[in-house]
Amino acid sequence: MAALVQQYVDRIRAEQISLRDGALASYIPELAKADPEGFGLTLSASDGYVYESGDTAVEFTIQSISKPFTYALALDQIGQDAVDARIGVEPTGEAFNEISVDNVTKTPKNPMINAGAIAAVSLIPGDSVGERFERILEFYSECAGRRLDIDMDVYASEKATGNRNRAIAYMLTSFGALTGDPDEVLDVYFRQCSIKVTTTDLARMAATLARGGLNPLTGRQVTDANVIRRTLSVMVTCGMYDATGDWVSAVGLPAKSGVGGGIVAVLPGQLGIGVYSPRLDSRGNSVRGVQVCRSLSAQLGLHFLTVSRESSATLRAVFDPSPRVRVYEIQGDLLFAGVEQVLRTAERDRDDYDVAVLDVTRVNDINDAARGMLIGLRASLAGGDKEAYLVDPEGWVVRADRREDYRGIVFRTLDEAVDAARQLEIG
Ligand code: DON
Repeated sequence: MAALVQQYVDRIRAEQISLRDGALASYIPELAKADPEGFGLTLSASDGYVYESGDTAVEFTIQSISKPFTYALALDQIGQDAVDARIGVEPTGEAFNEISVDNVTKTPKNPMINAGAIAAVSLIPGDSVGERFERILEFYSECAGRRLDIDMDVYASEKATGNRNRAIAYMLTSFGALTGDPDEVLDVYFRQCSIKVTTTDLARMAATLARGGLNPLTGRQVTDANVIRRTLSVMVTCGMYDATGDWVSAVGLPAKSGVGGGIVAVLPGQLGIGVYSPRLDSRGNSVRGVQVCRSLSAQLGLHFLTVSRESSATLRAVFDPSPRVRVYEIQGDLLFAGVEQVLRTAERDRDDYDVAVLDVTRVNDINDAARGMLIGLRASLAGGDKEAYLVDPEGWVVRADRREDYRGIVFRTLDEAVDAARQLEIG
């Protein structure tokens, strides 16, 4: 299987090699020194296995791909309310370096444009430039699963030519939208943009986002799932600047590009993608990178809004082991929609049984909404003199330490539950 997927990845990259449109970023002189032919692609599976093709060991600067990660770190460190008070989440349809703020709040419209990214840097705790940057570098490194480093030449080059960003930072300061000394904040921003990564680092960072903050390589939970959900949301709506609508339609993956030529893309729960090719289109997105992502999405069916076949998965079997006992065997990942169907079926059938037994032995995952609904079935059936039992050996619905509270209702095996239901029949 791995060999087959490797062939796909190699072929999809090879299809774009002859594409030589676009130009190297030159507004930061050091970036113009990149090899225009450099071209790498890495896919990370959600368990951390990586497929690499082409120049996957070449280091380039992360540039704007830093933005979602610093935003995630700000959310992680000071919480969503405090971040929301300083940075919006509305797409702008503007260029990445637009000098703009929200008309009403006078805060940056989103964290993916420079204004929002500079504001996000100012929210990272730290008493000095060094301390703040170290926290950022540490966080990116945790996401990548290796210690990353800075390209001092690119940093110096960006610092020497960063007047546009200075204008943005000073504008934010004048509106009271930036905490701290704008030059110090900018210094951290220039440094974070100059962190060196490979496509494999990007794929691993993406996989950490795909796994809700768990780095599958190291097994470490870098941040929590709420932080990641918010971060992916702004990547979807704002990640590709004024090309976002086109990107979401054609590729359908939360993503972020950088003028160093990198693109990071995420298929939540499934995949992390890192691609590099430094020739850029007029919006500052890698030309080959965009095409590779389009092909990957089309050929491997990765669009995150693809409506999959209705999950026949949730109800595995329904049967009556005894005349007035009905068993519902439930499987898969239990979320709201799947459990809603199970409950509707059980409620519809209520005249056919005295005891409904919900067997969640084969469940893989469950969220709080589904858990609450399954527990609630009993109360909703009680009005009709019906009982609901649960077979839950793993504690998906009722944690093992709460099982005593549910004695006689929650069982370890289907046989135990059916025996108890039969007793009820006899009684
Ligand atoms: O702020 C800047 O100008 C850069 N260091 C980062 C810009 C960037 O990568 C824009 N993305 N495509």
